[in-house]
Amino acid sequence: MIDTKNETISEKVTLLLSKMTIEEKVGQMNQYNGFWDVTGPTPQNGNAKKKYEHLRKGWVGSMLNVRGTENVREVQRIAVEESRLGIPLIIGFDVIHGYKTLSPIPIAESASWDLKAIENSARVAATEASAAGINWTFAPMVDISRDPRWGRVMEGGGEDPFLGSKIAQARVKGFQGDDLSKPNTIAACAKHFAAYGFSEAGKEYNSVDIGTSTLYNVVLPPFKAAVDSNVKTLMNSFNELNGVPVTGSSFLQREILKGKWNFNGFVVSDWASMRELIEWGHAKDKKEAAKIAATAGSDMDMEGYVYIEELAKLVKDGTIKESILDDAVRRILTVKYELGLFDNPFLYCDETNEKEQIGNEAHHEAVLDVAKKSIVLLKNENNLLPLKKSGQKIALIGPLANDKNSPLGSWRLASDDNTAVSVYEGLSKYKENTLSFEKGIDLIEGNTSFTQPLKVNNTINTSEINKALQIAKNADVVVMVLGEHGFQSGEARSRTEIDLPGRQQELLEKVYEVNKNIVLVLNNGRPLAIEWADKNIPAIVEAWQLGTQTGNAVAEVLYGDYNPSGKLPMTFPRNLGQVPIYYNHKSTGRPNPENNVFWSHYIDSENSPLYPFGYGLSYTTFKYSDFKVHNKKASINEDIKISVKVSNTGNYDGKEVVQLYIRDLFGSITRPVKELKGFELIELKKGESKVIDFTLTKNELGFFNNQGEYIIEPGDFEVFVGGNSAENLKETFVLE
Ligand code: NOJ
Repeated sequence: MIDTKNETISEKVTLLLSKMTIEEKVGQMNQYNGFWDVTGPTPQNGNAKKKYEHLRKGWVGSMLNVRGTENVREVQRIAVEESRLGIPLIIGFDVIHGYKTLSPIPIAESASWDLKAIENSARVAATEASAAGINWTFAPMVDISRDPRWGRVMEGGGEDPFLGSKIAQARVKGFQGDDLSKPNTIAACAKHFAAYGFSEAGKEYNSVDIGTSTLYNVVLPPFKAAVDSNVKTLMNSFNELNGVPVTGSSFLQREILKGKWNFNGFVVSDWASMRELIEWGHAKDKKEAAKIAATAGSDMDMEGYVYIEELAKLVKDGTIKESILDDAVRRILTVKYELGLFDNPFLYCDETNEKEQIGNEAHHEAVLDVAKKSIVLLKNENNLLPLKKSGQKIALIGPLANDKNSPLGSWRLASDDNTAVSVYEGLSKYKENTLSFEKGIDLIEGNTSFTQPLKVNNTINTSEINKALQIAKNADVVVMVLGEHGFQSGEARSRTEIDLPGRQQELLEKVYEVNKNIVLVLNNGRPLAIEWADKNIPAIVEAWQLGTQTGNAVAEVLYGDYNPSGKLPMTFPRNLGQVPIYYNHKSTGRPNPENNVFWSHYIDSENSPLYPFGYGLSYTTFKYSDFKVHNKKASINEDIKISVKVSNTGNYDGKEVVQLYIRDLFGSITRPVKELKGFELIELKKGESKVIDFTLTKNELGFFNNQGEYIIEPGDFEVFVGGNSAENLKETFVLE
């Protein structure tokens, strides 16, 4: 290896680049999948023999899905000891919501609106993953989405660019820490650049056709926030955007990301997305795909065999300039230097640390903490919750109630199956009540897996149902755990219905006939349309898939040991026909009911959602008062100062997410009816009040025009404050 101790990273990279052949440069831009897990279509060209050969030649810059110090050490050893220049590999893995010890799925965690807890959860994930040899995670996914049919909403921060940006930053910080060269910090990857969350009809890997206003104001802000937080890498996506597959989009990667935003990390393609330029009908063969992707600024080819097979030839025949390679390799090598891999390629391969860190008790505490915070109380009629702690007969029913696998959620290759605390196990700890359990029905037939389709069970076994009805009849309270299996959301898990899958609705209604005192605990990776349940079931708890500590978190909330504080990061529609439905929609020209039919509405459903963005109850109640805008007239360069008093008027100590929305009433580009522009998570003791201050700066008061320029326009604004996006406590101000 080259000794370059005293130079800056940039000098070291320049020196190293000067020694590299074209093939070695292309090698740095080539990422191979490992030899065990696959997270995409099975590779066609690669086999282990060829990959090892390429490692030895220095033709591999990175590997993904190689994990565990022993495995990582082996591939790293080959790269640094057997290749000519000994350049270390960067080892990537999908650490989406934990490594072995799992946090809630990202959409759930986003419901906490607790940026510290979210950061800490990413920190725990990085600590475990780095101890297992990983130094790069393909997270956070920062795709904004308004379509619950799209299975990947489980991986993101929800529908709102403001909340999504804050969460993106918290996650990047959690993964990368303050110093990337420490052995417990890893490079983050904001993905999927860009607009993947707008896949048409919510169908995976589909086209995206959106206007510039949505692109600049909704899709791009969380990526920009991640870049501002010094995220080291971005991943592009499988979709096309307005006719250009984004892996080949110079507009996104060169013009915006590396141009306007001055991003100096690197861009990795998604799995084989370079090769898919051919399937899209954008490149006629691999050669053209390589040319388009490299020219567009895609720096690394993930398991696509496009760069490794074509790029060197393209440089040699003069089709593309070597400077394109130099730029990409410079970016990749810089991140490797920053990670400390040149100083010690085995920095992340400490077997003793691996044993200590993975599954560490402190990590369980941390994921339990964020799991509780992720739960959203959707309904609590007559204060059915919290449950009394003694003398109660509780019937626990539902196919997910004693499931130890599904609550782990999707994207959890490194965790062990069946390691979640089930809701049954969690509730069993409250010993002064009598708990009985019957599943009633099965949700899934046969085995479940990350890579294979699931088969939803559509049969009813009468004797199982009867057993469930029997315990329900005799119970004081019935707790039903229904929803989606953990592998019914995530990549390639789009759905055309967003109801309770299988026969669960029927089970719910049958139980309701014998006992109406039902607490419905939902497990799901996307918003569900549960209008019947909302109308009939007295208590509903959104518990998503909460990871390893699921059952303990649910039990603590149901019994009131934790007062729920989560708020929905995505609108819950009444029915699928309302989709896409989101709080920050435009007014339309006919927003208000008329005495005839000619206004913007449906004839068979209300316009309003079932539960709005930002919504969530607590066991206590909060009152908002003394809402003030302190400077109701301001110049466009001035900050707007706002305050509101929030009081805990109920019977429990509790937390509230105080949310601030604005409406810019008239704009050269029409503005949404509301836009989240501030929030604060506060804790109030019973009877306590606090005055919360907000400041709106130029960062919150403007928007992007269709040329992508950020502008602030003078005019009238409304400002709203409350515990969700549908609250209408309103003030006004004018920008002059
Ligand atoms: C495909 C997914 O879209 C992406 O998010 C993931 O990081 C890669 N596969 C690698 O597993």
